[in-house]
Amino acid sequence: MSLSHEVMPDVPVASEMQQRAQRHLWLQWTGMGRLAPEDVPVIVRGDGCYVFDERGRRYLDGLAGLFCVNAGHGRVELADVAAEQMRTLGYYPTWGYAHKPAIELAAKIAELTPGDLNRVFFTSGGSEAVESAIKLCRAYHRLNRQGSRTKIIARSLAYHGVTMGALSATGVPSARVPFEPVTPGGCHVANTNVYRLPAGQDPLVLADAIEERILFEGPETVSAVILEPVQNSGGCLTPPEGYFARVREICDRYGVLFISDETICAWGRLGTWFGSQRYDYQPDIITTAKGITSAYAPLGAMIVSDRIAQPFMETDAVFAHGLTFAGHPLSAAIALGNLEIFEREGLVEHVRDREDGFRARLEGLKDLPIVGDVRGAGYMWAVELVRDQDTKAFFTREQLDAIVPFISGELFKRGLICRTDDRSFLALHLAPPLVADRDELDEIEATVRAVLSEACERFGYR
Ligand SMILES: Cc1ncc(COP(=O)(O)O)c(C=O)c1O
Repeated sequence: MSLSHEVMPDVPVASEMQQRAQRHLWLQWTGMGRLAPEDVPVIVRGDGCYVFDERGRRYLDGLAGLFCVNAGHGRVELADVAAEQMRTLGYYPTWGYAHKPAIELAAKIAELTPGDLNRVFFTSGGSEAVESAIKLCRAYHRLNRQGSRTKIIARSLAYHGVTMGALSATGVPSARVPFEPVTPGGCHVANTNVYRLPAGQDPLVLADAIEERILFEGPETVSAVILEPVQNSGGCLTPPEGYFARVREICDRYGVLFISDETICAWGRLGTWFGSQRYDYQPDIITTAKGITSAYAPLGAMIVSDRIAQPFMETDAVFAHGLTFAGHPLSAAIALGNLEIFEREGLVEHVRDREDGFRARLEGLKDLPIVGDVRGAGYMWAVELVRDQDTKAFFTREQLDAIVPFISGELFKRGLICRTDDRSFLALHLAPPLVADRDELDEIEATVRAVLSEACERFGYR
């Protein structure tokens, strides 16, 4: 298919909005000192898989905002749901009180989760959900007279959020180092980048690494293991066959709780309601956020098994933790409206139906000499780029400094928003809204192909 975009011309003059953004708005995770006002994209409108900037230029949102606009942009019915809820009850806390949207949403979530994950503690986002889970695990162990269990095991390069507790689980050095010392107790083991595993090695050593770490730390000190079904950071690291079954066994053997961080991997992203269903495991706690409202309002949740909730439900114990905006009626009503859209339009099934096609399009890129690995599931994919396909050689820092800005800039100019992550391996992340269909998947493939081909040409990779 032909590209629906002309290559967008550079516009050297900053608009008034861009100038004000650069002067007053602190962009997150952005080196503000290096940012020219004309480089700040000002997005004004969204429709389906597309967003539009203030100059009317259209972009295919290949990242669904931030892995979260699952039902797609421009859902007017969610605006109506929001208006109706605000007219009825704009706010009431879930501290000691309940309200209808939070009750109905908690019940709906319990209906969708695997096994006995029936108790929902709301938060405002993913970091708070992880923070809450870390605290709940400690409190649970303390109630069980195992207060020495405080450590949390996560995987290298994993991103679990930025608040100080969640940061202790996050395994991305650049996110941690500026704020050290972070909350003590975070331990890291190898992630599941099977592409980089030495040939012939049993991939289940990656699960056994968790057991080794528990034994090294002392099981009586380990509170929980936290893992994403598909680890986003590091480039969609999928689990090898049998990985999660082995992790579950290990956790049970040592009395360690198992948190499945599904901030991204729930709500259809992997073609199932929850990522743990995709890989058939039963966690003790699921943390989630993002797609629960398709990002039409902020909301997160910690979903807890009956077993872990039980001591808090049947004794005088209080989980001494809460957040003003947790389960906000507006967000909860929007989440219910969002899940109705999912069910009515069969979005989860749609992702399952289209997954093979998405994979095939990306795998087809392997005829380009810098495409090393294509991995992911559902609508969450990464294309790992390498200097040499045969040796899987990494680009040098100098090469990265040339090729990364070129690829990122060119994709954007050609109207595709996605992420070029070079924090570890160089990977292109693609996670469009779940409403993306064949045309949008074709457009993603064609744009990525055009840009990577040009990069090979320009930088001499043949
Ligand atoms: C797996 C995971 N956990 C936690 C978080 C933190 O979520 P938030 O940015 O909503 O605080 C993220 C954010 O991307 C995430 O991907």
